[in-house]
Amino acid sequence: MSAPTPLIAGNWKMNGLSASLDEARTIAEGAKGVAGRVAICPPAILTYQMSQLLKGAGVLVGGQDAHWEDFGAFTGDISAQMLADAGASLVILGHSERRAGYHETDEVVAKKTLAALRAGLEPIVCVGESLEERKAGRALEVVTGQVRGSLPAELAGKPFAVAYEPVWAIGTGLTPSTPEIEEVHRAVRTTLLDLFGDHGAAVPILYGGSVKPSNAEEILHAAEVGGALVGGASLKAADFLGIVKAL
Ligand code: PGA
Repeated sequence: MSAPTPLIAGNWKMNGLSASLDEARTIAEGAKGVAGRVAICPPAILTYQMSQLLKGAGVLVGGQDAHWEDFGAFTGDISAQMLADAGASLVILGHSERRAGYHETDEVVAKKTLAALRAGLEPIVCVGESLEERKAGRALEVVTGQVRGSLPAELAGKPFAVAYEPVWAIGTGLTPSTPEIEEVHRAVRTTLLDLFGDHGAAVPILYGGSVKPSNAEEILHAAEVGGALVGGASLKAADFLGIVKAL
């Protein structure tokens, strides 16, 4: 099985207004010809406009979360079907900000992943340990446990990605050392092979947490790193392109 095609996804979180679409246009122009796939995950309300703007431009549009049901009485929520209808082709699921702020368990993330598959979206499923868990020597156990609990068997043969995002590295400017990243990514790969056989070798394992132009080259070339999930540094086209061009 060939190595996974790298993916760099920008997670805008709750940032960006319609004026920020200019940034997306600049990103699409600058990302032409890079050696991998590039995606922007804007706030859901910008999905339609951004996917219209980026049609044919080679940059994918993704959601940041989706409900586990397709439709229903869930005030304020958005389903994977709706994201797909608005032009998204991917969706981030189980981000640590959702796990911590909205009590999303592995079981909930697995149900959301099934909803993404029903909608034809490619899920990017996030996992990662807290600082306390790392200090207690439990990083590998926590991360591989989340991988097993959050990825339903129905993903077999389907396109999806896993994002390893240590909670303590998100938005803090701190990053694990390259050997620490490689150790976790190898453990995730072993778990994917165990769960999905050969298909597990084709799943990109993204790193996320304080990726910026100055550290992108080293992180993206580390063993078993198949791309990045980028928060803060994806908001400015120049910074995001600095990361994308390090592929
Ligand atoms: P950061 O966020 O790049 O701002 O650390 C990463 C993420 O939350 O996906």
